Amino acid sequence: MRVLVTGGAGFIGANFVLRTARTRPDWQVTVIDALTYAGNEASLAPVADRIRFVKGSIADEELVDSLVKDADVVVHFAAESHNDNSLSNPWPFMEANVIGTYRLLEAVRKHGVRLHHISTDEVYGDLELDDPDRFTELTPVNPSSPYSASKASADLLVRAWIRSFGIEATLSNCSNNYGPLQHVEKFIPRQITGILQGVKPKLYGSGENVRDWIHVDDHNDAVVAIIEQGRVGQTYLIGADGEQNNRAIIRLLLEVMDKPADWFEHVNDRPGHDLRYAIDSSKLRAETDWRPQYADIHDGLRQTIDWYRANEAWWLPQKEATEAAYAKIGR
Ligand code: NAD
Ligand code: DAU
Repeated sequence: MRVLVTGGAGFIGANFVLRTARTRPDWQVTVIDALTYAGNEASLAPVADRIRFVKGSIADEELVDSLVKDADVVVHFAAESHNDNSLSNPWPFMEANVIGTYRLLEAVRKHGVRLHHISTDEVYGDLELDDPDRFTELTPVNPSSPYSASKASADLLVRAWIRSFGIEATLSNCSNNYGPLQHVEKFIPRQITGILQGVKPKLYGSGENVRDWIHVDDHNDAVVAIIEQGRVGQTYLIGADGEQNNRAIIRLLLEVMDKPADWFEHVNDRPGHDLRYAIDSSKLRAETDWRPQYADIHDGLRQTIDWYRANEAWWLPQKEATEAAYAKIGR
């Protein structure tokens, strides 16, 4: 099968390419990635001789058309992905997430190619801490940030192209990922690399905000399961029952990294900060054989901490600029 992976030099996309190189060795993979600040071709070094890498933007109509024409499936990860950045400058999110997805949709429509669109639970807004309900495929979209609004917009475009043009597409909305190769702007790697440099973890606001953590390999295995076993036209929510508040995650990191439990500081909260995400993944589990392998977040965090310890050369070049940008906004 000829697979075009968009955003394959980013965190989840690179893990997808590395993992499927082992689990689906017969796939012929082409990656298109614009190599923004978040993309790193070095993440793909272990499989560089087995894949084709194309540097370019999914907003480039001609390039997208030429690559989609030669694919059987497009797995669409490429996006601007960080909420804090979307609050400082929304435009790149519109270009990559909305226009980029539109370009892909037009190309898969023209060439009759299957699409799997990767999205986020953030399109559903947030839940109260004591809400007994979790997000399902039927939850109405209600995004809070420019990032989540751009992802919700992309999801709606995909759904419209399925209904109006009959394209063969599936969608998935996943909760917060963690694992190797994640940019140090994100919560967990920011704290791990900070602790390694002797800097206290930084908690936004009260730290009561809850995220539903899933290991990146579990997310990517679910994507493969949907491509191979999912029903065309359908949306699947991906989650591994991993709800934790941010303070609890920091305490876990401090425990594993041998620091005192109160060795962290509170910083300015994020404007519009979503309180809680929680996924009900019953539909995915009913329709595919996917089950998460990282049932215990302790194991996944230990593996992630070990990876950042062993790969300073990968993350150190990102660290200074990332912290300088955070310092400007008091976070
Ligand atoms: P990331 O920021 O680490 O990687 C995004 C990649 O896309 C980068 O390599 C970047 O260079 C590339 N890219 C950006 N704009 C592009 C463009 N115009 N053309 C081509 N490539 C472009 O993001 P991530 O965390 O790996 O997220 C991947 C996808 O998964 C996104 O669609 C995101 O919305 C979704 N998602 C992320 C999470 C999470 O917790 N990180 C959870 C659910 C869904
Ligand atoms: O839910 C899925 C989403 O998860 C994805 O769609 C996004 O691409 C991904 O970035 C992530 O969004 P969040 O905004 O939840 O992730 P982030 O890592 O930025 O923050 C996680 C939580 O930690 C959030 O409540 C804010 C908080 N936080 C973050 C940072 C960077 C802190 O308390 N301190 C920090 O230093």
